[in-house]
Amino acid sequence: MTDRYQTFTRTPLGQTLVKNLGLPDPTPLPRWTEGSPVIDGPVVFGAIGETDAGKAIQALLRDIGASFSTATEGVASSEIRPKALVFDATGATSTADLTSLQRFFSPVIRQLAPAGRVIVVGRTPELAQSAEQQIAQRALEGFTRSLGKEVKRGATVNLVYVAPDAHEQLDSTLRFFLSTKSAYVDAQVVRIGTGPLVSNDPDQPLAGKTALVTGAARGIGAAIADTLARDGATVIGVDVPQNADALRTVISKIGGTELLLDVTAVDAPQRIAAHAVEHHGGLDIVVHNAGITRDKRLANMRTDAWDAVLDVNLRAPERITNHLLDSNALRDGGSIIGVASIAGIAGNNGQTNYATSKAGVIGLVQALAPKPMLTERQIRINAVAPGFIETEMTAKIPFTIREVGRRINSLQQGGLPIDVAETIAWFADPASAGVTGNVVRVCGQSLLGA
Ligand SMILES: NC(=O)c1ccc[n+]([C@@H]2O[C@H](COP(=O)([O-])OP(=O)(O)OC[C@H]3O[C@@H](n4cnc5c(N)ncnc54)[C@H](O)[C@@H]3O)[C@@H](O)[C@H]2O)c1
Repeated sequence: MTDRYQTFTRTPLGQTLVKNLGLPDPTPLPRWTEGSPVIDGPVVFGAIGETDAGKAIQALLRDIGASFSTATEGVASSEIRPKALVFDATGATSTADLTSLQRFFSPVIRQLAPAGRVIVVGRTPELAQSAEQQIAQRALEGFTRSLGKEVKRGATVNLVYVAPDAHEQLDSTLRFFLSTKSAYVDAQVVRIGTGPLVSNDPDQPLAGKTALVTGAARGIGAAIADTLARDGATVIGVDVPQNADALRTVISKIGGTELLLDVTAVDAPQRIAAHAVEHHGGLDIVVHNAGITRDKRLANMRTDAWDAVLDVNLRAPERITNHLLDSNALRDGGSIIGVASIAGIAGNNGQTNYATSKAGVIGLVQALAPKPMLTERQIRINAVAPGFIETEMTAKIPFTIREVGRRINSLQQGGLPIDVAETIAWFADPASAGVTGNVVRVCGQSLLGA
């Protein structure tokens, strides 16, 4: 769906009105296209001391051919227009070290290019070696979340916490956050742990993998199917029989297989496992995207509306996940991805059923990620929590509420299905072996539930 207001603000009259009336001025966000470099401009790197994480970051910047300079106290020169500022704060061992944030960023932040990237890398606070270090590391969250609200023109700010000895796992995550693939992911905090080192082709990271995508016939699910196929996966698209034609259109473009079923059917988990094993020898990636809304205030909530939403959005992912794990249809090294929502974090008027189901998806991630049944087989589980994404679901929202929903985020616009899909592709990438137990919002730093 087109954002007519954003199109208008790009006209001369629109720009005049935006400036004179102080209206929202959403910068068009570039999205990744084939052949794009990871980052298309200079990078300035700063650090608190020399650390393993810092070395890994610089090695990656060299690897992707980025032109980068290092600076301890930023660069005030107006000639440099950095596309990204990357700061290694893993060396912060006490609050005294936090001064480095101001010293590095203040002189250079104004120079950040449109749609620029700020990435701060810290040490996972819970795994710090001392209380002083934990406090300093935890403080980084306030810094990045505030800076996210200050940077303008489509720029984003994210924080990546890396566990001790996990610096070699930074690669796929930094590629994601530096690139336009993370266009609508803003002010997020990601935790990276240790895991096996997987080096694959960043252009085809999912080659040889099979991915199941539920609700693949349209909207976000169709974008996920396309994106995983672009990255080399063979996709099994699942949707209800009523959407058979739409599912066929999606799958015939990408050459996967279709499975028509209702994910809430009693035998859905068994049918999914049987299809995956029979046609593809098993599964590597599972994306629980199928979801519905049946909005009503709780006082007016009918039993069927409550049950339907809980069944599709939460019980089906739970039952399917359990069966795929128990039956070993999901192979070792696999990746399970839930689709939650910011409503599941912030709550939303008229959505007690939906928000319960989506908070439950976050619970599923948190409950399963540390289970030996997954960790011993290097199976990872994460979730995305989309904010306002332009789809048929959000097109149905009444105009005024829709317009507010679109603008109340730092990027002042709705996201696109591709933004959710790219985040899922990063989770699915075997090179993201250290990424598990995360819930990443794809919401442009929505003010809801921040
Ligand atoms: N659009 C947004 O802004 C937004 C925001 C937050 C979260 N989400 C979540 O993202 C996911 C996709 O949303 P969307 O906007 O693309 O929705 P959509 O309604 O456009 O598409 C959902 C798809 O899921 C399928 N589906 C529904 N029930 C099913 C069932 N029982 N069995 C099999 N397939 C079923 C539908 O047929 C449809 O093809 C959902 O989980 C939704 O809750 C969307």
